[in-house]
Order: sequence, then structure tokens, then C-alpha cells
Amino acid sequence: MVNPIKRPFWWERPDLGYDARSLTFAGRKTQELAHRFGTPTFLYSAARIRANLARIQGALKATGLPSCLYYAMKANRFAPILTLMASEGLCGIDACSPEEVMHAMACGIPENQISYTATAVSNTDLDTLLRFDQLHINCDAVSTIRRLGKRAPGRTIGLRINPAMGVGYGDNALLHYSGESTTKFGIYHEQMGEALDAATEYGLTITTLHLHTGCGYLTHQLPAWEAILNEVKTVAETLPGIRRINLGGGLGVPHTKDDTPLDLKAWAAVINRVFKGSGLTIEVEPGDYIAKDAGLLLLGVNTVETRQTTRYIGVDGGFNIAMEPAFYTLPFEPVVTHLREGGPTPVTVVGNINEALDIFAEQIPLAPIHEEDTLALINAGAYASSMSSNHCMRGTFREVLV
Ligand SMILES: Cc1ncc(COP(=O)(O)O)c(C=O)c1O
Repeated sequence: MVNPIKRPFWWERPDLGYDARSLTFAGRKTQELAHRFGTPTFLYSAARIRANLARIQGALKATGLPSCLYYAMKANRFAPILTLMASEGLCGIDACSPEEVMHAMACGIPENQISYTATAVSNTDLDTLLRFDQLHINCDAVSTIRRLGKRAPGRTIGLRINPAMGVGYGDNALLHYSGESTTKFGIYHEQMGEALDAATEYGLTITTLHLHTGCGYLTHQLPAWEAILNEVKTVAETLPGIRRINLGGGLGVPHTKDDTPLDLKAWAAVINRVFKGSGLTIEVEPGDYIAKDAGLLLLGVNTVETRQTTRYIGVDGGFNIAMEPAFYTLPFEPVVTHLREGGPTPVTVVGNINEALDIFAEQIPLAPIHEEDTLALINAGAYASSMSSNHCMRGTFREVLV
């Protein structure tokens, strides 16, 4: 039978694509899983998570420099994922709240493999964190250094700095954590003297320099990332006690057909060029790159209706369980789980929340779809379930690791 739709789709890969007309993910038929578990359901692939981690570990190894990989659990803290990482010793964890630290440990991650970097850290946070003496803490404000120092003089810490330069998916300023505009993240160049004085006052040893400049960068942005790393290296050179440099996360994945996957070889070459001979251990803490394309969200289609000139596809989940399009204007790719006969037509996919911003994708070509079908949103493995809310009391969903 001739399929009128041009295949393969840009997002298809050996573990995600159509087997005849049925969307399969991690060797499982997605429609069948939707029938079994109901919708909305997040499916995560253990094999893809392992593969993503292995790819980064391989690239880090290729730099020839000592390195350490932490998974930013804020991207997805589903316990079976963390348990998998712990039981197979795949990586450490980047945590950003005391609850995350304790959740990671409850899932089996050893305390000494957790790196903590957070913002607006309270005294209560510090009191909790300091119960864990093997936890590494990066301070992102002079105030944090002082308050930590008072509580735990002599401790070893890291400094999160703000290089005032940023890089992120599509040069979207919403995804920049440092850049032209002042941000709340990290210690600025002009505050360094004050930060070092505070550390000295309390006998704190600074061993790590940390930066996270933005989320979702791809290959063409590597020159901008390299320029940032060169700046940061000059800061590291002024601090003789620094042994480790944490380059944050931000490694991106393709969101549209026009994106190409991040070239990890080129990424590793940047790290090698900048830090070769520095004696520093390279740390990275990606979230998106590990979890995003390892997950999809299955949604039930309840409404197919044309209003004026727009064909709306209404589904049984909203922006409150997958917020990246609404909050960050990141594109989301809806995919049919059963390929029907016929060519694609432009549709607008909307959720079940009474808010105007509850739109997953606008005017995108989609294969024919009917009410009662199941729709999948790919790239839903990160910053979706972990950021969900119960808005409109529609925050219920299921998560399954396959
Ligand atoms: C300090 C820090 N590290 C790592 C990450 C993970 O970023 P990504 O998921 O883009 O890799 C974030 C994301 O916000 C972050 O703030």
C-alpha cells in the first residue's frame, strides 16, 4: 500500500517510528500502551536514557580530560529513572533543592555523587543540606557563601559564576541563564572579590567553578559556547584552589525538522581546546539531553473540529503537564499513533485547560486523526511531568518506564 505521507519523518529513529502503521517506541506499540494505561500517560525509554548517557560519557572520554557526569534531575525525577541510574551506576545527580537531594538518595544515589546548585537558598535549605557532609554545594550568591560559612566553617564549596554571556535553543532569551540582561543566577565578575573575602572569612575552600548559561544549544551555537568557556577559564586561572569546572547543562536536542542533533564530537573538541592542560576535572550536568527524547506523552483525542479556518485537535492533557510550548515557546511535535490513509493537513493541537495559552502546536501538518485516537507528543521526557501543576484540577497523569 502506498503511504501518501512522506516517510521517514525527521524524528524517526530505530527505537521510535512506525512499524507498518503503528507508532512504536522502545519496541512497544504506543496505542496498545495507551489502551492499557489510559491517557495522559508519559512513556519513558530506559534504553534511550542509557544510550543518551553513554553518548555523553563517550564524548567526555574523548576529551582525554578527567570528567564527571551528573544528571540534572529537575528535568525528570521519576523514581524508576533515578533508581535505574543508581543501580547501574550510570551517573551522579545534579540537585537543586533539599527535597531533590533526599529523593535522589532515596532512589539509591550515593551522597558523594550529588552536586547541589540552587538559587535563593534559604537558611532552612542550608540547615538541611549541611546534614549531608559529603554533598557538594555550589554557592550561587555571596549571601549563600556567608550563611553557609557561618554554619559550616572550613567546608569545601563551589562557586556558581555568571559569565554575563548566554546561549540557548534558537537564541531564545527565555532560555538564557546568563547574558546581556542581568539574571538571578550566579556571582558576577564584579562580585568576585566580595565572594572570595566571604569564603576566606569562614575558612571555606573553593574547589569548583560552576556555570550554566542556558538550555538547548545545538551545534551551530558551539562557537558562542566556546567563547563563554574561554572567559570562564580566565576566571579559573585566578583561583589557584580550583580543581573542577562544572560546565552546567544546556545540551540540546532537535525540536523541529530544521534542527540537527548536537554534534558531540565537536562539543568534546571545544572542551578539549579550552581546558586541555588546565589540570581541571570537567563536570557537566545535562537534563534535557538525557531525558527529553527518551520520553513521549500519550494523549487521548476528544475533539476534532474546524472553527473558522482552523482545524482544532483537542486532547485530554494541557499545558499544565507539558508546559514548554506555553512557557518557553518551544516547539512540540504531535505525532499520530496510528497512521491512517490520507495526506497531512494543518491542525492546531490544544489541551483541556481553560487558558488561552493552552496550545501545544499551531497550524502544523498532521496525518489524519479522529476523535478517540491517541496522539503522542514526542520530546516530552524532560521538563514536562516534573513541572506539572494541578491547574483546573487536571494534573493527573501516569508515568511508565519501558
Ligand atoms: C544549574 C543548572 N544545571 C543544569 C541544568 C540542566 O539544564 P538542561 O536540562 O538544559 O541540560 C539547569 C537547568 O535549568 C540548571 O539550572
